[in-house]
Amino acid sequence: MTDVNLQTLHLYTRQFSGLTEEKIQTLHEVYETLQPDLQQVTDTFYEQLSLIPKTKAFIEGRIDQLKLTHIAWLNELFVSNFDEDYTAKLYKIGDVHVKVNLPVEFVSGAMSIIQGELTILIVQKYTGQTDKQLKILEALNSALSFCSLVMQESYQTSALAEELDKFLNITGMSRKLFDNLARVYSKKPG
Ligand code: HEM
Repeated sequence: MTDVNLQTLHLYTRQFSGLTEEKIQTLHEVYETLQPDLQQVTDTFYEQLSLIPKTKAFIEGRIDQLKLTHIAWLNELFVSNFDEDYTAKLYKIGDVHVKVNLPVEFVSGAMSIIQGELTILIVQKYTGQTDKQLKILEALNSALSFCSLVMQESYQTSALAEELDKFLNITGMSRKLFDNLARVYSKKPG
């Protein structure tokens, strides 16, 4: 894993996504009710991705395998404590996507599809219970934002590290020399 301060990233992301302990508790509470339909959410997710030429190219021929890892992530969304370990796990998932050169906008696009499908499910399961629906949807929004932010952070760091590796390979410059030059440059006034 690239250099990242997990404690800082965890706190920053919890704050930015507004993911409180109460919201995490809400997700834990609704898991049993939603769980039987989560596979359908994953199936629809890959159907949607298959309709978009740019995303289809990345999933063709491996949808069955991808569904397995996706449903595992989706289940964990409702049982996780969103602690530092979970942050590290999400960061690594982001890293896997960087390694297969997935465009960064796929993360927010994908989360939007997932949020849409889960919203329909929650509204159906809690028909007529407006307050409950709102509470669950708020918790879901924060949880998906948390995942999205961590995955994108991983993207940013990994992509920069890859660019640096390429630069060092092309120029033949050692990492030590690069670090020394960067240190001198950053001390220059103006
Ligand atoms: C933002 C929502 C997404 C989540 C939560 C997610 C989740 C995951 C997870 C858990 C893995 C397994 C990581 C591992 O091996 O440790 C994975 C791998 C993968 N995902 Fe996603 N994914 C998302 C979006 C996408 C999209 C939009 C695409 C393509 C259109 C995609 C394509 C892939 C591919 C190709 C791999 C396998 C990479 C490899 O090992 O070769 N993912 N994803």
